[in-house]
Amino acid sequence: MRPASAPVDVRHESEASVTQDKTAIAVVGSGLMGHSIAQVLALAGHRVAVHDADAAALASVPARVQRNLGELVRWGMVDAADAAATVARLSLSSDLPTTVTGAEFVFEAIWENLAAKRQLFGELDRLCLPETILASNSSSLMPSLLQSDAEHPERILVAHFFNPPYLVPLVEVVKGARTSDDTVNRVYELLVRAGRTPVLVRKEVPGFLANRMQLALVREAIHLVEEGVASPEDVDLAVQAGFGRRFCVAGPMGVTESIGWDLAVAVLNTTFPSLDNRMTAGSLAEGLIERGELGMKTGRGLLRWTDESVEAWRSRMARALVELERNEAFRP
Ligand SMILES: NC(=O)c1ccc[n+]([C@@H]2O[C@H](COP(=O)([O-])OP(=O)(O)OC[C@H]3O[C@@H](n4cnc5c(N)ncnc54)[C@H](O)[C@@H]3O)[C@@H](O)[C@H]2O)c1
Repeated sequence: MRPASAPVDVRHESEASVTQDKTAIAVVGSGLMGHSIAQVLALAGHRVAVHDADAAALASVPARVQRNLGELVRWGMVDAADAAATVARLSLSSDLPTTVTGAEFVFEAIWENLAAKRQLFGELDRLCLPETILASNSSSLMPSLLQSDAEHPERILVAHFFNPPYLVPLVEVVKGARTSDDTVNRVYELLVRAGRTPVLVRKEVPGFLANRMQLALVREAIHLVEEGVASPEDVDLAVQAGFGRRFCVAGPMGVTESIGWDLAVAVLNTTFPSLDNRMTAGSLAEGLIERGELGMKTGRGLLRWTDESVEAWRSRMARALVELERNEAFRP
């Protein structure tokens, strides 16, 4: 198995190789995540069959993929011929058995509902050859929950992409209690060859790897605002103008190694006792929900939003993600 720290080449494959059709892959669920996962895999040269229970969601896949690829072409990240070939590698089907027959990998991206995912994985386990790998894009459900009724649990794992999958390279590959090393290796290699950056979660835990770290920061941010230590705006600025800049280039392990563990441990031991350790989101966040102040979607949360400021925020985020993706200095 490739060690989690192995250097990963995040470039898309060479133009020569992307012109060839390679592995047959199925994507089930073509919503926000599914259509973009299908795009990433088709751009890497694979034939991708897409299925969705909703006919309109399924029919909209080519247009949505074309729009995303159009942006990549405009930004000089993909050439126009590769974009056209990518769309041609996608096929749509309203029939699940047709979609998954002959697939070497099935990527599931349906709603985050355990009963629905369990039912689908039961069908996939029956429909697919034993060597077909079944990967869930679940944000929170551990692979063991999807393996429990399977005849071939060793080929089931979680491959958790981040939104939008075509601009954020990370994919968490989460090994379930009964997932085989061969399954992990095959998914890991497929993702690397598709220009993604997989990390291996060797032992399943709720929230996997990235969301656990992200949520630890959100918990402390809520605590700092609740305690009146700083405004929500300054909490965000401290990340954006401060350590967030380093975290685009190095993670917490690398940053701490650069500081030196002697200094780090002295600071950790002074600060850890006062860090927040709550078990629930708490009164500040729950009060927002009671008042219908949900953030961007209601025009107000801890911050105030207008249609213009939401649009400006989204377009700045997209532009910054593109710059990070195409600038070599930010490649892990
Ligand atoms: N939205 C995110 O930012 C994000 C990020 C990472 C992971 N995820 C995870 O990815 C998965 C999909 O999320 P999304 O945001 O793309 O959802 P979505 O609602 O945009 O799309 C889900 C799609 O699945 C289809 N579907 C539902 N049940 C189905 C079934 N049994 N068979 C076939 N199609 C079915 C729906 O018609 C819909 O088009 C979830 O597990 C979610 O937790 C989401």
